[in-house]
Amino acid sequence: MSKPVQILLFGAGNRGADSYGPYALKFPDQVQFTAVAEPDPERRARFSAAHHIPPERQFNSWEEALQAEKIADAVLNATQDGTHHESTIAALKTGYDMLLEKPIATTLEETIHIVRTAKEADRTLMVCHVLRYTYFFQKLKEVFDSGCLGQIVHIAHSENVAYYHMAHSFVRGNWRNAAESAPMILAKCCHDLDLLYWFTGERVDWLSSTGNLRHFKPENAPPGVPSRCTDGCPIAGTCPFFAPRIYLESYPIKAAVVSAENPVLRAIGKLSIAHPRLADALGAVIKPIRTLTRYSGWPRNTITRHPESDDAVLHALQTGPYGRCVYHCDNDVVDHQVVNLRYPSGITATLTMHGHSYEEGRTLRIEGSKATLLGKFTYGQAWLEIHPHGPGQTQRHSFPITVDNASGHGGGDAGIMRAFVQTLRGQSPPLTRAEDALESHLLAFAAEAARLDAVAVDMDAFRQVNP
Ligand SMILES: NC(=O)c1ccc[n+]([C@@H]2O[C@H](COP(=O)([O-])OP(=O)(O)OC[C@H]3O[C@@H](n4cnc5c(N)ncnc54)[C@H](O)[C@@H]3O)[C@@H](O)[C@H]2O)c1
Repeated sequence: MSKPVQILLFGAGNRGADSYGPYALKFPDQVQFTAVAEPDPERRARFSAAHHIPPERQFNSWEEALQAEKIADAVLNATQDGTHHESTIAALKTGYDMLLEKPIATTLEETIHIVRTAKEADRTLMVCHVLRYTYFFQKLKEVFDSGCLGQIVHIAHSENVAYYHMAHSFVRGNWRNAAESAPMILAKCCHDLDLLYWFTGERVDWLSSTGNLRHFKPENAPPGVPSRCTDGCPIAGTCPFFAPRIYLESYPIKAAVVSAENPVLRAIGKLSIAHPRLADALGAVIKPIRTLTRYSGWPRNTITRHPESDDAVLHALQTGPYGRCVYHCDNDVVDHQVVNLRYPSGITATLTMHGHSYEEGRTLRIEGSKATLLGKFTYGQAWLEIHPHGPGQTQRHSFPITVDNASGHGGGDAGIMRAFVQTLRGQSPPLTRAEDALESHLLAFAAEAARLDAVAVDMDAFRQVNP
């Protein structure tokens, strides 16, 4: 029996503490967080208490943690994008293997530097392309490789970012400004470009891209709206982006639950919207209802340290970035972008990313010479259908979404933790190595260059210039 893998966590924020922390608590025989580096004292204390990390293994920053001798088998780097480069290079050079959140880094040069350093230092570096580990995309890959679709001709893949997610992350929040963070096609779609690479097993040889910021601009502000939703906005009742509805009422989360295939979830979602007081009363004794009526998960837990408190959430909206009017923010990233891709085999693909969807999730069609595959992977539904051309039965595979697994990228967050442990124990080869993830990042940077300069990119030439 192998010993549990010991991990030093950089960044006990949303991803580090809430997405990956629970896996270690559930499977302590596989993995344990034995040290943490986090500047926020409350987050550090909360994570340390949950994982029984002794005071001498609690650090104020990754810099401080690396001053100690090597104290764990590996690092999980869940700091913000702009911190990835320096912290990853330093940890790899200290001798740590690493599971690194995406994107690898925010510039092409830094991304290449990290991948090269991991190779030179002979360290395992896996990137959190968590979608590869979901039940849905694992099945899709199996179908793709089985040959049942015939010769693959075209893939139309859409990343439909829901209106409230767009507003939260790309208008009001951390990824709103390309110079401060990264282009949206990298921040949001490196997962999708990675999936296309994984499905086809081919490196793109040509791409083009177009897109812009159409809606979230001052000239689209309705007359008389204040700069903050909580300052008496005249269109509070109808504006989809009204912050108290998103964060205090958690309306979009409840609506996502109403769209679930699971009838129990649907009923809970409807009750919580139509009869909030009754739902709240029932929630006192029925936990799945309480999970929704007292919802304190994403995005609510990213705007305050006390997401369980309505007062704390309201205070964040009155004073912080997430209460700002979406038409009066300092955002400049696109709200829609299309990438056209061509592969050496002749397969073509389109990736459509936009931030104006009624629900959050990916939809795709894969056109083959023998069948068409339709797929939907959202917060509430995950299914794929294979429609044969000519005689034959349509096959449908659906992946149950329950109250317990509705979050966590459809099993992807847990899946990558399991895969990382297995890789470090030598039980399986890594699936999302940095060398592989480099391809999705190269494509994202090339797509952004193509969009900005309105040119098509010869990817072979692009790779030669950026080896
Ligand atoms: N794989 C995915 O699908 C996915 C989804 C969302 C976010 N992400 C990525 O995960 C990363 C983290 O995102 P998040 O939403 O958890 O951010 P977050 O802000 O909630 O967490 C980052 C944490 O890092 C801490 N930190 C800052 N400076 C530090 C330092 N010097 N040393 C140690 N810790 C430090 C911050 O205090 C914070 O607690 C980002 O790169 C983001 O793009 C990935």
